[in-house]
Amino acid sequence: MSKAGRLVVLVSGSGTNLQALLDASADPSYGARVVAVGADREGIEGLARAARAGVPTFVEKLRDHPTRADWDRAIADRIAPYEPDLVVSAGFMKILGAPTLDAFPVLNTHPALLPSFPGAHGVRDALAHGVKVTGCTVMLADAGVDSGPIVAQEAVRVLADDDEAVLHERIKTVERRLLVEIVGRMAREGWTVSGRTVRIGNQPGGGST
Ligand code: GRF
Repeated sequence: MSKAGRLVVLVSGSGTNLQALLDASADPSYGARVVAVGADREGIEGLARAARAGVPTFVEKLRDHPTRADWDRAIADRIAPYEPDLVVSAGFMKILGAPTLDAFPVLNTHPALLPSFPGAHGVRDALAHGVKVTGCTVMLADAGVDSGPIVAQEAVRVLADDDEAVLHERIKTVERRLLVEIVGRMAREGWTVSGRTVRIGNQPGGGST
């Protein structure tokens, strides 16, 4: 059974999910701690949050590499020295390639109820479709776009006056709590994957609808 004590968190933006993990891991009983934060761009609040927490950071930009395959290799090489038990892609706007996926378990979070509305605009797409309930999904990453085995989901109601920003903020409040809960449980209890079924400890994946 895998355990998740050492976390490398990957970010591309504001990093509020990262902050939730940093805050949770301040308590040793949480069972996991963020040992490094990686990004695909500079000047983002996520990197500033890591710096304020005294966590080492690295940046690997796609445009600094001749091919995507080179970037895939480079980001895996930046992660490896931190020997993570789990890589958490928390608002990281890149699909990770085989060098990372083959070397480490990767947890991802998405602001929609997969398999509906995968991709970079899950909140916008759900609103445009007119759904009345959406939510967030925590899943293991695979080579596809938000297609890996689901660990946990939680529903969020869509309100009549919601726009993308308002709905996304309401989802993110739930998403941060769910991510912190799931990462902590994975760290403390371990997890197994069988096909598309992820089990934490001896229980089915957490979250509810
Ligand atoms: C989250 O909703 C994540 O699921 C999505 O982008 C948002 C990132 O938020 N891909 P933050 O950077 O953690 O604040």
